Amino acid sequence: MTKELFIALEVTNSDLLDTLLSQLRSIPGTKTQNWAIDSGEKGTLTVKTVPDIIIIDNSPMLGDLLNRVRTIKTNFPQTALLVVSGDLDPQLIIDVMKAGAAEYLVEPVSERSFTNAVEEVRVKLANFDKQSKGQVYSFISSKGGVGSTVIATNSAVSLALAKNKSVALIDLALQAGDASVLLDIVPKTSLVDISQNFHRLDIAYMRGVMINHNTGVNFLSAPQNPEDSEDVRGEHVRGILELARKLYDCTLIDTPSMHISECSVEAFRQSDKIFIVTDMSVPSVRNTARLCKLIRKLGIRSDRIEIILNRYIKDSALSLSEIEKNLDKPVYWVVPNDFIDIVSSINRGIPLVKMTPSAPFSKNIVEFVRKFQNLQEDRGFSGLRNLFGKSI
Ligand SMILES: Nc1ncnc2c1ncn2[C@@H]1O[C@H](COP(=O)(O)OP(=O)(O)O)[C@@H](O)[C@H]1O
Ligand SMILES: [Mg+2]
Repeated sequence: MTKELFIALEVTNSDLLDTLLSQLRSIPGTKTQNWAIDSGEKGTLTVKTVPDIIIIDNSPMLGDLLNRVRTIKTNFPQTALLVVSGDLDPQLIIDVMKAGAAEYLVEPVSERSFTNAVEEVRVKLANFDKQSKGQVYSFISSKGGVGSTVIATNSAVSLALAKNKSVALIDLALQAGDASVLLDIVPKTSLVDISQNFHRLDIAYMRGVMINHNTGVNFLSAPQNPEDSEDVRGEHVRGILELARKLYDCTLIDTPSMHISECSVEAFRQSDKIFIVTDMSVPSVRNTARLCKLIRKLGIRSDRIEIILNRYIKDSALSLSEIEKNLDKPVYWVVPNDFIDIVSSINRGIPLVKMTPSAPFSKNIVEFVRKFQNLQEDRGFSGLRNLFGKSI
C-alpha cells in the first residue's frame, strides 16, 4: 500500500496556490491542508498534525526566504520542505538547499517536476519506515539497589561518548526513577507528557520531550511525581519504543526492580536483550532465577535474557560457578565492585564513565557495551580477567 502523504501549503500567491492544489489532486494518496501564513514559523504547537511535506512560496511579505527555511526546518526537522520561488539566484538556491529544503522548484513549476518532488518524499518515508534499525536493551534489578540504574546509565553514556551512535536512555522505573539524579538533570518533561498527549506522538513530539544531556545521551525521564506514573500504560511504551528504534541506534531502558509491570512487559517484548542485574547475595540470585522464569513465561526466548553479576568480589560466600549452577545459565557479564568511585560519581552528578574513564567500573562498562554490540572479538569474555590480565 502506498503511504498517504499529508501536505501543508503555506503559499501566499493565490494563483500559485490554486495551481499546486489542482496538481496535488491528481496525485493519488495525498491529503492537503492550507496553513495560516506563518504556521510553519510558529512550530508544532500551532498545528494539529505534523505534515509529511510543507510547501512554501517566496513571499517578500513574510521576510527573508532563507531565514524562513531555517526556522521551519528547526520546527519540523522530520518534514520535507518544498520551496517554490521565481528567484533564480544560484547562491540562494544553494543556501536554501543547505538549510534543509528537500527541493527548490523554480516558477512556473512543471507538473512533472512537482509530482516527482512529492513522490520522492513518499519513497524516502517508506524506506525510513522499513528500516526500524535501532537496538533496544532493557535492564532490571533482581532486588532494589543492586545496580540496574548505575549500569544502564553508564552504558548509555559510554555509547554516546563514542560519538558514532545516537543513544536514548528511557527511565521506566516510574516510582523511583533515579537515572535523572545520576545525570544531574532536573527534568522539565517526562513520560507523562507522552502518555497525556499520546495522540500527538510522532518523531517531532518525541524529540521535544527527550532531554539532551551534555554527554550526548537523549534522556526520557520517569514522571517527577510518582502518582503520575499510573498514566503511563503499556501501549504508550510500545509506541515510544517503535519510534525510538527509528530515531536512535541504541535505546537503553531502566525498568523497575524485582517486579514486572505492564510497562516492563512491553519493554521486554521489544528488547533485543534483557539484562537482569544481580549481586552475589543469596536472595538476589534466587530472585534472578524467579525473574528469568517469569520473563520466559511472557514468551521471550531465553537467549534474549542475560545475567549481569554486579559488585563482584572474589571471596564472597557464593562463588561465580555456584551462582551459574543455581541459575542454570552462564553469567553474561561480571562488573567489579567499585564503591568509592561510583558513590563519588553519584554525588557529583557525573556518570563515572565520563568522570573517571580509568576507574575499574568505567573500563569494565566500555567492554560490556562492546560485547552487547557484538564488537568484542572474544565472544566468551565476560568481564573477568586474572592477575595477568587474561580473560577467564
Ligand atoms: N559495581 C558497583 N560497585 C560498587 N557499588 C555499586 C556498584 N553498582 C552499584 N553500586 C551501588 O549500589 C547503589 C544502587 O545502585 P542502583 O543502580 O541505583 O540500583 P538499582 O537501580 O538496581 O536499584 C548505587 O548507589 C551504588 O552505591
Ligand atoms: Mg534503579
